This record gives sequence, C-alpha cells and structure tokens, in this order.
Amino acid sequence: MIDLPPGPGSPLVATLKYLRDPYGSLRETARRYGEPHTSPSFLGKMVVTGDPAGIRTLFTADPDTYSALGAELLGPILGESNLILLSGERHRAMRKLQMPPFHGTRMRAYGQLIIDAAEEHAARWPRDRPIQVHRTMQQISLQVILEAVLGLREPGKRESFQAAVLAVIAALKPSFMFIEALRRPLLGLSAWAHFQRTRVHVAALFEEELRARRTSSEPREDILSLLLSARYDDGTALTDDELLTQMMNLIVAGHETTASSLAWAFHHIHHEPAVKTRLVEELRGLPEPLDPEAISRLPYLEAVCSETLRLTPVAPLIGRKLRKGLTLQGFDLPPGVAVGIGILLVHRRADLYPEPERFRPERFLERSYTPFEYLPFGGGARRCIGAAFALYEMKLVLATILRRYDLRPASNAPVHAAVRNTTVGPRREIELLHA
Ligand code: HEM
Repeated sequence: MIDLPPGPGSPLVATLKYLRDPYGSLRETARRYGEPHTSPSFLGKMVVTGDPAGIRTLFTADPDTYSALGAELLGPILGESNLILLSGERHRAMRKLQMPPFHGTRMRAYGQLIIDAAEEHAARWPRDRPIQVHRTMQQISLQVILEAVLGLREPGKRESFQAAVLAVIAALKPSFMFIEALRRPLLGLSAWAHFQRTRVHVAALFEEELRARRTSSEPREDILSLLLSARYDDGTALTDDELLTQMMNLIVAGHETTASSLAWAFHHIHHEPAVKTRLVEELRGLPEPLDPEAISRLPYLEAVCSETLRLTPVAPLIGRKLRKGLTLQGFDLPPGVAVGIGILLVHRRADLYPEPERFRPERFLERSYTPFEYLPFGGGARRCIGAAFALYEMKLVLATILRRYDLRPASNAPVHAAVRNTTVGPRREIELLHA
C-alpha cells in the first residue's frame, strides 16, 4: 500500500465541484487537506501542491521524470503528435522546432497587426448599450492568432478559417474528452460525430492552404511558413499531419487563454479606480502613432498584466505524470502517479502576496518573484512557448483600447471563474459602458 497525501475520495464529486467552481474547489481542498494533497480525477490520482518548495522540486527535476498527463486519453482527439501531449525526446525535438517563431525579434513582427485588430474591433462597439468585452477579446485574439500562425490577412479566407476553428473548439466536449466510451458515432447524431465533422472540415481548409503555400515563393513571416521550412536534427521535415496538429494546437492554446486573460484585465482595471487612473496616466505619455516597442516597455502596464495573471490564472492547475519515483515534500511518490501544480494556490498565498484577493499591480513593482512563486505560464521543460507572445498581445490590446476609450463597469456584481473548454475564464460576460 503506497502512502499518498490525504485528500477527498470520489473522482465524480471532485470533478463536479471543479467544474462548478474551479478556483473555489481547489482552495477548499487545499484548506481541508493541506499541501500536498491527493485529488481524485478522471485522469487518475493527482498529488497537488501550491507550495513554492514543492513546485521547485517539480520544475527542477530531470524532464525525463515525467510524461505529459492524459496523452493516451487525449491523443486521439488532439492529435498524437501534439506538443502538449508529447514526452521525452519527441517532446524536446518538437519544442525545439516550434520555439523560434516565438522569440524576441520574430514576435515583434506581429505588433502592428495586434494594434490594428484591437482598433478594428473596438471601433464596432455600441454606444447605447453595454460592451461585451470578453466577446470582443475572443474576436481580437482569434484574428491575431490566425494572422500570426497562418498569415491569413485576406478577410474572406480568414473568416472561413475563423468559423471552422470556432466550430471545432465549440464541438470539443469534456464528456467525450474524458470518457472514452462516449466516443461513438451513434448514426452521426452524437457529440463525438459532430466533433469529427468539424475536424474533417478544418483539415480540408488546412490542406488547401498547405498546397497553396508550397507552390508560392512569396516571402512570409507567419509561424506556418517557419514550420514548413523547419527541420529536425536529422534533416527531416514535419509531415502534413504533424503540421496540421501543431497549427490547430497553437490556435486553440493561444486564443481562449489570451482572450480570457484580457477580459479579466479589463474587469479588474475598471473595478479599481486608482489602478485605472495610474495606468491611463502612464499610457498618456506614449507618442502617436502607437509604437509596439514603447508600449511593451511600460512598467505599470506590465504590472497590471502580471497581476491579472496572478489573481485570475486561466490555467489554475497543471499536471504531469510520473515516469520515475519522486520525493515531494517528504512523500515518496511512485511512477504512474500524476502530480499537479496548483498555480492558483501559490498565487493566493498571503505570505507571498499580502491581501491576496486584491488586485494590486504595485506588488510587482515592489518586489520580484521566483519562477516557483509566480507561474501563470507553468514552468520547467513544458513552460508555455507562447508566454512572451501572450504578454505582448495583452499589453498592446490594453494600451490601444484604454488610450482611445474611457470606460466604466456596467455592473458591480462580482464575476466568478468557470471552466471554459480546456481553460478557466470569467463565468459571465464582462460588460463595460462608455463613461
Ligand atoms: C495569457 C495567455 C496564456 C496563458 C496564461 C498560457 C498558459 C499556459 C500554461 C499554464 C501552459 C502549461 C505549462 C506547463 O505545463 O508547465 C501552457 C502551455 C502551452 N502554451 Fe500557453 N498560455 C497562454 C498563451 C499561449 C499562446 C499565445 C500560445 C501560442 C500561440 C501558447 C502555446 C502553448 C503551448 C504550445 C503549450 C505547450 C508547451 C509544452 O507542452 O511544451 N500559449 N500555456
């Protein structure tokens, strides 16, 4: 009998609680059972910690200590070659191919298109009724990611992809993701069958785009073009199926996450008048036309983004599966057990973040945090490859909109977090009015 840390018993109850209130259920379990504790789930038992010492152990262990969590279950849905599901040498090789487009100067090429997308969508805001901020952020982030990943600047083609990608995301249901028995066509009427149809459609669009790209000699800066010419160390290229899987993954991983984080940022800024005043003051100092580089260097804007990702992380819990034994905070964990990093738990520790429930960007100007204390993008060998891109996009969208529009909250009712597809975001629409 292996001695795992204590925790609740029923995976069904724990899952339902998480689905109903992801932040609340994580904190309640940590309060009741301490850290680390063991959470039951459909992916097996997960030993969860939000203690910086435990997180240090997990992030600094040899990467071969782990494999990706849920790879067997999710491979048939998200693609077997998907970076987020690969482990060991295959993960390292695929990650190496996908990192260059997200580095400094490369990423800067996307600055103007982010500002243009923010201006275009905010210009459509109504004057006589509440603005639906989360919805706008989803439109902006999808447009940005499609342009950056696929280089789709022609509106017609972009709209076809946009509709096809949104259909796949909407068709992706936790039911069949986590319960294999529900992956049945049932005469084409099931959620699974509907998901398959959306996937066939998006694959056809991608294949058409790949064919066009291969016959064109036009120089391009998008991520697909960079991946088309990327080679593994042995000189081979990504196959069409690998390309399609990675493209789809980057779009899904980069779209909802950034949109929810931006929606939360607008919410927090407009519920803390002193924050808004200080931020608007900082933005006023920017020269016109807006220069993406100048925006990305603003310290208070950066602190506002950091504080948003601390207080309302879109990934409150991330996991790995142990391939080898590991000692975590005094517990000897055997291979096969999942380990969870409670991003929300560490982000709400009062010893690190005094008044942890308050939105107070100043804390990030007063002190710095280690990667084991502040980790909205995860850490170690699997840290988010889009982190710099996402932060850059958040800053540019906030700066562009807050410089042009004076907004106020439509209501003071609190907004709770909810599970949205694969991430956690605001449960209801963030509504603002023109001031
Ligand atoms: C605010 C926005 C975002 C947040 C909060 C976020 C957060 C995360 C987190 C927590 C992980 C898991 C890291 C781990 O397990 O240690 C992750 C992984 C990943 N993210 Fe992001 N992400 C964001 C935006 C993006 C964007 C814009 C892209 C790409 C365009 C992206 C691509 C990825 C990929 C490919 C992985 C898998 C990395 C791997 O397994 O090696 N993310 N992200």
